[in-house]
Amino acid sequence: MALRKNQNSLSAAEKKQFTDAVIALKAGGRDDNTYDQLVSVHLNNILAGHFGPAFFPWHREYLIQFEQALQHIKNDQSIALPYWDWSANQSATSFGWPFTQDFLGGNGQGSNWQVMDGPFAGESKWPLKVRTGTEPYPFLVRRFGSSQQPQISLPTPADVQAALGVTPYDVDPWNSASQSGFRSMTEGTIPPPGDHMHIRVHAWVGGSMTTFTSPNDPVFWLHHCYVDRLWSDWQVLHQDQVAYLPRLGARSGHNLYDPMPPWTVRPADVLSTWDHGYHYDTDGFLVAGEVLYPGQTIYSMGDHRYYLSYENDGNLRFWQRGWGRPLWQSSDSKKPLGKCTMESQGNLVIRDNNNNKIWDSQTDGHPGSFLVVRPDGKASIFQPGVPTPIWTRPS
Ligand code: CU
Ligand code: CU
Repeated sequence: MALRKNQNSLSAAEKKQFTDAVIALKAGGRDDNTYDQLVSVHLNNILAGHFGPAFFPWHREYLIQFEQALQHIKNDQSIALPYWDWSANQSATSFGWPFTQDFLGGNGQGSNWQVMDGPFAGESKWPLKVRTGTEPYPFLVRRFGSSQQPQISLPTPADVQAALGVTPYDVDPWNSASQSGFRSMTEGTIPPPGDHMHIRVHAWVGGSMTTFTSPNDPVFWLHHCYVDRLWSDWQVLHQDQVAYLPRLGARSGHNLYDPMPPWTVRPADVLSTWDHGYHYDTDGFLVAGEVLYPGQTIYSMGDHRYYLSYENDGNLRFWQRGWGRPLWQSSDSKKPLGKCTMESQGNLVIRDNNNNKIWDSQTDGHPGSFLVVRPDGKASIFQPGVPTPIWTRPS
């Protein structure tokens, strides 16, 4: 499983692993999937992937193809897309800024706003081969919002929270004229104020990111990876809602069972992230093989109100934030320390450092099961594809 992490938590080695793979793909990937061919796919399928409900699933599939191409070119399954939370990390002078020399490179310079530093600077290192008529230069161009007139700002955490609260997924007429709904709010086709989320980020980066060849700028993938995470967050926050709309009534390619050009993949095929070999570092779950070490915690998605911790007295506890007493605990007496593992056969097990079993959920025999810390205040173990959990606490 590829773990898509916040770029602000990547080590120097992880940043280099990602940028090296991107450079390698640009130099020549599989015949049908080089970097520049992927840019062409975006340019040639604008109406399939934008201005409608398929905005999220089309880009989800597109990101999966890019991520798999990176893994393939480096023969390294651990490569995962990082995401840029532009609502949090939006200043060059604070923690988590991605536009650095050792990662994405900085703002453009001079009269043509050419990017001059980092792995993607200059035509010889990073030639833009697929361009539209509005792009005269064969090199990467950025013009951050603060250097534009009038100045553009990035969306704020309040904008993100507002969008995540919106239901349903999308509304009639299912296109850029839709006046409400999570999709158009997040894609950014609803006029201001406070929204314009995804489109505003393209505009803020400026230059190469403002055209339909925007994947020419590698920040595209980090931006869309965060957009994809927001859809995943929205689905968990609104489990009472239909995950995708509509079944019928949108233009071709945007209904639940329409193939999304240029692929045969349908929105219905990409509704869940864990069917597709990746998950996010914020997702409230522990998948088969993953481990909690003492002091580690899994939070429920969204507001992180509930959390499950493997604590320094050797016990697993489930908490609601602000409450002095756990909602559930594996025991109330001190145990020898070790680790808590979601084992491959479906059992959640605490073992001490000598591998003696201290506690388990007694759910062996369910291969591939995973633990979810739910936003409704329970922790459950699910089998893949089965909606009824095999274990839930508090029960
Ligand atoms: Cu796009
Ligand atoms: Cu976009």
